[in-house]
Amino acid sequence: MKSIVLYSTRTGNTKKVAEAIASALPAGTPCVSVKEVPADIASYDCVFIGFWVDRGSADKDSQETMKQLHNKHVAVFATLGADPKSPHAAESLDKGAAFLPEGVQVAGKFICQGAVDPKLIEMMYKQFPAGHPHGKSPERDALHAEAAKHPDAADLEQAKQFAANVMAAIANA
Ligand SMILES: Cc1cc2nc3c(=O)[nH]c(=O)nc-3n(C[C@H](O)[C@H](O)[C@H](O)COP(=O)(O)O)c2cc1C
Repeated sequence: MKSIVLYSTRTGNTKKVAEAIASALPAGTPCVSVKEVPADIASYDCVFIGFWVDRGSADKDSQETMKQLHNKHVAVFATLGADPKSPHAAESLDKGAAFLPEGVQVAGKFICQGAVDPKLIEMMYKQFPAGHPHGKSPERDALHAEAAKHPDAADLEQAKQFAANVMAAIANA
């Protein structure tokens, strides 16, 4: 079983999760940015593809890569600023995974929280008035403070478990 981990990242959160996933796969499993997808990507039996959530979907770079993944087994993971148990998280993960070609069955999905770029928070607080869902409020401050701690050791452990579960499900299929 030849596997590879691909990830898209702006500020490093999704890369950390990708590296945790790769560490749970056989030694030597490549872990590379979507900007360096190997030319022989079609020769991999299993691809883990990771994106950062951009306005409720997958970021642009990962969208382009996902569209090209016709591999037998594809598992999807992501990081986002919001609560990973929220409907927004589940919807963003599904919306992102929908960029895979038709007929590709998703072998597993995983999402966890990731620190939001402080520059983006500042921009949103300037752009949106208090009271707006993206404007400054105690709730938004609390959300960003929580996100700033992620991905943490527990998230990375869950990511490893996710990888192990995907591989076990494929082996038992
Ligand atoms: C332009 C932009 C749009 C974002 N949109 C969302 C969003 O819709 N929902 C969300 O929960 N987080 C959103 N985020 C937060 C990122 O998804 C989150 O911080 C992620 O962990 C960043 O991953 P990275 O460090 O791998 O780039 C957005 C961040 C940026 C910069």
